[in-house]
Amino acid sequence: MIDLHCHLLPGIDDGPRDWVQSLEMAQLACNDGIVEMVLTPHVFDGVYENPLSSFARQVEVFQALLDEKNIDLKVHAGGEVHLSEKIIELYDTGELPFLGWHGEERILLLEMPHGFIPAGAGKLIEWLRKKSIRPLIAHPERNKGIMRAPQRLNEFVALGCGFQITAGSLTGGFGPHASQLAWEMLEQGLCFAVASDAHNTGARPPVLSAAYAEVVKRMNLRRLHVKRRAAAGDGADFQGKLSRRTQLQGGRRGQGTGEVWRPGGRVRPVGGRQGGRA
Ligand SMILES: [Fe+2]
Repeated sequence: MIDLHCHLLPGIDDGPRDWVQSLEMAQLACNDGIVEMVLTPHVFDGVYENPLSSFARQVEVFQALLDEKNIDLKVHAGGEVHLSEKIIELYDTGELPFLGWHGEERILLLEMPHGFIPAGAGKLIEWLRKKSIRPLIAHPERNKGIMRAPQRLNEFVALGCGFQITAGSLTGGFGPHASQLAWEMLEQGLCFAVASDAHNTGARPPVLSAAYAEVVKRMNLRRLHVKRRAAAGDGADFQGKLSRRTQLQGGRRGQGTGEVWRPGGRVRPVGGRQGGRA
């Protein structure tokens, strides 16, 4: 399994404090069947600055430590970038950390505030899309604004965003409301990736297997698919696919078409694309 969202670098956000804790988390991930991780420290203006160049070297040090300890895990530099105008400055200075590539687009793990959907989010996402950047919205099922009005996911689908669900949401770790929303999103094909969002070895561990098993069971799948191409640049060049009907929304490249959120209803296409689920 590949984990696209986790906090394993020490001392730069609310993840582990030191290399000992980082290595404990890495061993736990490895034991769980995770073979690659994109490390995604918070990038949050005024809280956790973390421009790419400030931690890229730390990722190399971590890989060397993992190799030295015979922990069979590959790590890449990424970031969980808070939605704000700071993104523009980071982009202009080459300091915006991406998850990797999907086709010819770069994928940006984009975090919204937990309590609401900020005004102006759409404008910033439009700006990103013009730069061939596809936002992957981090754990929307835990955002209070989306919990209150899940149909607002449509706005992000129409803008060409994908969604990443937290593994713990599927197994009930973030409460029944987040769990219900996470499962509905999966059922409706509105999930590109499930990730651990691990912060420690306790309540927020780097564990995907429990959610994986639950998804296979509840969605009556034989197995999940995760494809991966060769790593490139500072992130993983990946193609993720949770199931035959769960993949990055957005229709043809460069277009903002996708599938519409209809609570309790079936998925149908927006913008004239026929056929619904892929
Ligand atoms: Fe996170």
